[in-house]
Amino acid sequence: MSDQEILPGLEGVMSYHTEFDLRPGNCVAGMKDLPDESVDIVVTSPPYNLGIKYQDYDDNLSTEDYLTWSLEWAGEVRRTLKPEGSFFLNVGASPANPWMPHELALTLRNLFQLQNTIHWIKSITVEPKEADPVSVGHFKPINSKRFLNDCHEFVFHFTKSGKVLVDRLAIGVPYADKSNIARWSHTEGKDKRCRGNNWYVPYETIASRSKDRPHPATFPVELARKCILFHGGEPKELTMMDPFLGIGHAAEAAGESEIGKFIGFEIDEVYLDEAERRLGA
Ligand SMILES: C[S@@+](CC[C@H](N)C(=O)[O-])C[C@H]1O[C@@H](n2cnc3c(N)ncnc32)[C@H](O)[C@@H]1O
Repeated sequence: MSDQEILPGLEGVMSYHTEFDLRPGNCVAGMKDLPDESVDIVVTSPPYNLGIKYQDYDDNLSTEDYLTWSLEWAGEVRRTLKPEGSFFLNVGASPANPWMPHELALTLRNLFQLQNTIHWIKSITVEPKEADPVSVGHFKPINSKRFLNDCHEFVFHFTKSGKVLVDRLAIGVPYADKSNIARWSHTEGKDKRCRGNNWYVPYETIASRSKDRPHPATFPVELARKCILFHGGEPKELTMMDPFLGIGHAAEAAGESEIGKFIGFEIDEVYLDEAERRLGA
């Protein structure tokens, strides 16, 4: 991990070159202090309105109020995003509210173009021909006669124009069939292809939730890191933002990717303190 180091006395906390600007409070008001078109990448996961038990935030608005509020904060994201910027919005559903991610994406269609729909796969089973099925990832069994286990969430990649150039091969994968390298001229002889829009990113295994991941609804650092790489550009020159910081996994990804500046907002001081602790800030 380049020249990042572990701070003495803060084992497990990295030292990053990124300038972190973490602000307490409501992101809707907070983002109003940021200049127009000043942010390159937004990677965020707002409350999903699925009744999740946060410290303070009430995750039980009416659908109408939730979507109205979403337009408010996403409007500020649009204003602050550069014309060539990327806005990665992570949202999941629940059996009680399966339409929510789709309703939210549709609500934002007047603000952004939906350039890519990425599926964050938390666990999957593959069944190779003539071999036993292989299951990987984090699988939390539910007991239901009606619903499949939900093993994925969405990451909507919004841009202002729908025409933003990205660096697909920065998160590319080797060809399974190497004969494709010569067959397709666009490979330019390299053994790397687009990984597609199914991104398998398992949660890290932890020993204690309260100690290791004290927040009920996080995304893995690796998911945000892939978004950063996919957006492309020279990291040191980029400004990244997460309006719903939680315990700071997007900020950790920014640090690991050596992003120049990171701005985060979090309404709950307990989560913000934990984010600061993790960043050694
Ligand atoms: C889904 S969680 C984000 C978790 C984060 N991605 C992580 O991995 O740690 C949403 C967060 O938004 C915070 N939040 C809710 N309303 C907010 C607001 N208006 N402004 C800033 N933060 C808010 C909640 O306290 C919660 O921590």
